[in-house]
Amino acid sequence: MEELLANLPESCKTLLEETKGSFVQGMQNAPGYKKPGWKGYRYSMHFSSEATQKIYEECDFPENSVILASFPKTGTNWISEIIYEMLFGFDEKFDILRKEIPPPFFVLEGWSADKMDLWKHIPLPHYYFMSHLPAPLINFDKIKKSNSKIVVPIRNPKDQLISWFNYCQSPNFAPLREHLSSDWSQFFSDFMDGKQPIPVTKPGEGYAEFLSGWNEYKDDPRVHFVHFENLKTNTTEEINRIAKFLGMDLTEEQLTLLKDKTSFESMKKIQDKGSDEMAQFRKSMNLVRKGKVGSWKDTFTVSQSERMDEMMAAKLAGTNIKFVY
Ligand code: A3P
Repeated sequence: MEELLANLPESCKTLLEETKGSFVQGMQNAPGYKKPGWKGYRYSMHFSSEATQKIYEECDFPENSVILASFPKTGTNWISEIIYEMLFGFDEKFDILRKEIPPPFFVLEGWSADKMDLWKHIPLPHYYFMSHLPAPLINFDKIKKSNSKIVVPIRNPKDQLISWFNYCQSPNFAPLREHLSSDWSQFFSDFMDGKQPIPVTKPGEGYAEFLSGWNEYKDDPRVHFVHFENLKTNTTEEINRIAKFLGMDLTEEQLTLLKDKTSFESMKKIQDKGSDEMAQFRKSMNLVRKGKVGSWKDTFTVSQSERMDEMMAAKLAGTNIKFVY
């Protein structure tokens, strides 16, 4: 083991090895819909109510953690790559993290809470977690205590929904098919009625509740919002804002490298040419698909578009959230 992993106790080494050997298959065979769990939220696939509750109640975040809290299909993987590269991409001693530590240790509410134990034994200037958790499921006192920060993506809800619809057509979602129709108009109305088991939402709720929950923290210096559409059009400026928020000072050269590595084209190429088991899985989920703003116009009917506008206006009344279409 290289220096960073030199102090892992035997129990963590065993956990790492076991997880590495089994998690992709576990994702492919993950149970579909799970009954609402702790605090009434729905989980599916590898997202776990038990892990969420245990982390909330019993675990501390490592000092200087960065958590990406996203609603599905709002640019999670893109912004995740940007943050990850910012934190770990410019020093090769961190290469071992991607090589040796599989995704279950980076997904906050995924799999089990054991990940929190592993990170205690790895000395890093920052720690990083991805998450689909809504605000009430992250213990904000622990965020403050650990000097941690949270990045929340915002994407217009119509493109989010089109992206989600396309994503759900993957055969990997077969166990959830009765909740995630292949028929667009059925899919649309199930989404609008909060019937889909989207991680991590309550029955009857969805993206609007996720946004209004995080909006409660809009004035907190530990929370930063990134609009997908602004990141598309003003990439440099938005990446610099994320860097500033995280206290990172990027050189011009680093910024150019980071932009290239996380561009749609680069990420698509990596997704499509990857050959290991994880890469194949990611490819089958088509996580990097079109990456456009405004694709919803090809699919939404006028009345669907109006219904979405009305719902968002009603549920987000009192917030300053403005979508870019
Ligand atoms: P589309 O399905 O509209 O193409 P998430 O990571 O939250 O699942 O979000 C997926 C969406 O982000 C997909 O949108 C995907 O194409 C887009 N995306 C992923 N990487 C991107 C990148 N580097 N640039 C722009 N969009 C990207």
